[in-house]
Amino acid sequence: DDIGIVAAGFSGGQRRLGVSAAPSAMIEAGLLEEVHNDLGYNIHHDHTVHSYTDLYPTSDPDHRGMKKPRAVSAAMEKLSQQVCVLTLGGDHSVAIGTLSGTARAIRKRHGREMAVIYVDAHGDINTPETSGSGNIHGMPVAFVSGLAKGDSKDIFGWIKDEHLINVDKLVYIGLRDVGASEKKTFQENEIKVFSMHDVNRLGIGRVMELALAYIGNTPIHLSYDIDALDPEWAPSTGFPVPGGLSLCEGVFIAECIRDTGNLIAMDLVEVNPQLEVRGAERTIQSGFALIRSALGNRSI
Ligand code: ARG
Ligand code: MN
Ligand code: MN
Ligand code: MN
Repeated sequence: DDIGIVAAGFSGGQRRLGVSAAPSAMIEAGLLEEVHNDLGYNIHHDHTVHSYTDLYPTSDPDHRGMKKPRAVSAAMEKLSQQVCVLTLGGDHSVAIGTLSGTARAIRKRHGREMAVIYVDAHGDINTPETSGSGNIHGMPVAFVSGLAKGDSKDIFGWIKDEHLINVDKLVYIGLRDVGASEKKTFQENEIKVFSMHDVNRLGIGRVMELALAYIGNTPIHLSYDIDALDPEWAPSTGFPVPGGLSLCEGVFIAECIRDTGNLIAMDLVEVNPQLEVRGAERTIQSGFALIRSALGNRSI
């Protein structure tokens, strides 16, 4: 099989340095060799870690509370056109690019709407108006679902209907740090959420049965925030939240999605090798395990 990999070392969706170093750290740790030699893919990769800083405007004042709105918008408009199977982030604002790009491609190629499985400690569904931080990595789902509207072309106005995901085909797993307005959004839009509470109550096996039954036989984009894992397994991330998924549960989620045969794209985001540097290697290895499970074959 062929696989396109994009290294999206973009960090403009939040304010901690280091998340842009994740793709090179993962590639140096042998990711491409693993995907080629062990998983057996023919890799298409441009041998570039994109930081998209060449697209940053000289002046980018806050807009509706958003930090770096034009920089993030321009970078994600570009990433949206780079549609590929595996995207290595970068902060989670890259999902504005990847989800919009895959949604559009699946519409054009297959006339279908894709499903999204969003594995995260956080909801990432703030609008500019409900965000407390102004960090756009807390808003990607709002922008790609149309719940948050762009305005001018250079501030997410490039997002058209063809780029949007359907919230009826969106499932969250692993949530444990969700704002009051995000909860309201989940309720009002009847979005399917499996929080850590649900994982603990039902077990990850049952959660995946329910999640996949809800989606049905539909192409799936998996957007995986490493902070869904417990900080024990992924300490090197910008916004760690205790009480998360074990590596075993995190891997199981990826395996169940792989086993559907419907996985079309995956993001792995928010690895920050420059935070908690003693845990960077462990965080990267956990990321490898998730990618291996999503893209590989059963080892037994
Ligand atoms: N909810 C917070 C915010 O809006 C945190 C978001 C964290 N997002 C992430 N992709 N790690 O800023
Ligand atoms: Mn090559
Ligand atoms: Mn996230
Ligand atoms: Mn998160």
